[in-house]
Amino acid sequence: MSCAGLAAFIASCTDSTGVITTGPLGDEPDATPVQPGDPDARPSVDARIGAPDAGSAGPACTGGQVDCGAASAIAIGTPKRISGTNVYIVRDAGGLFAVSSKCTHEGAQNNVTSGHFHCPRHSANFNFDGSIISGPVSRALAHYALCVLANGNVGVDTVTTVAATQRLAL
Ligand code: FES
Repeated sequence: MSCAGLAAFIASCTDSTGVITTGPLGDEPDATPVQPGDPDARPSVDARIGAPDAGSAGPACTGGQVDCGAASAIAIGTPKRISGTNVYIVRDAGGLFAVSSKCTHEGAQNNVTSGHFHCPRHSANFNFDGSIISGPVSRALAHYALCVLANGNVGVDTVTTVAATQRLAL
């Protein structure tokens, strides 16, 4: 468009006060609905990688997560240590979560003992949700992000920490 054409176009968009008129924000009520396959169609939230899929219990893994096996193999009260990681996968009434196996005092590996995690180095004890029971510790155990792998197994991201309240409902 030439400068003269642009000026004429802008002039056609102004009212008598010289203010440029615009349409309403958002969808116009009489706008033609966007159809599937239309190049203007926007992906739904469910279609984004890493977002919960419709009907799924959790976010899809995006790559790099460790396969923790089938969710059904993890029972309430029986944390599963994931080989090659510093993570236990735990189930409670809300679902699955991943908690660090490393004591927050000096980093020793916690064991599962009598319904809780126990650090053998200086005898710290943690609940399965990572909260402190006793010992020379001031921080709860870290929680890591879980997702659903393409094969349906649980995946853990051993780098990304999440809130202790987060659960994967599988
Ligand atoms: S390293 Fe665990 S209590 Fe000290």
